[in-house]
Amino acid sequence: MTTTKRDEVIDWLNDAYAMERSIEIMLRKQADNEDAHRAVRDRARIHLDETAEHADRLTRCLEMLGSSSPSALKTVAGQVMELGKGLTTKFARDERVKDFLAAYGTEYFEVACYKSLIAGATAAGEEDIIPLLEQNLKEDAAMASWLDMNIAAITRDYLANTTTTAAAS
Ligand SMILES: [Fe+2]
Ligand SMILES: [Fe+2]
Repeated sequence: MTTTKRDEVIDWLNDAYAMERSIEIMLRKQADNEDAHRAVRDRARIHLDETAEHADRLTRCLEMLGSSSPSALKTVAGQVMELGKGLTTKFARDERVKDFLAAYGTEYFEVACYKSLIAGATAAGEEDIIPLLEQNLKEDAAMASWLDMNIAAITRDYLANTTTTAAAS
């Protein structure tokens, strides 16, 4: 049995859909987390709405390719969750920083997925879905660069609020 480029793209769209759905859960937790930095919470809330849109756009892409509704719980979602799990220890003292690192890795992973999907769609001659993918890419890249711009400040802020300078012995 041969797999066509189109089949492969459909598979990747399903993976991306599952990824967006699992990120939605992660962002909702972050948006509601009283322990998270206020700026992170506010930004997570904005990206939560965008992320729901991303899943909708992927559903539209799948429909345009004549595929039925997306299949949930695919491997990539598992990978993203694993990535998050590796970095996040529940109730860890520095949860605020660990969650930030997990979100950072996740958004750059999304950027990589959409760049790959756009290249795949082009190679498969499925140009119609590219504008939708580019919109998702743009918003994930914006979120990734926001996290990048704030990683140092969030870390310093955490240390300033939770530690004391070691006394000279
Ligand atoms: Fe996304
Ligand atoms: Fe995202």
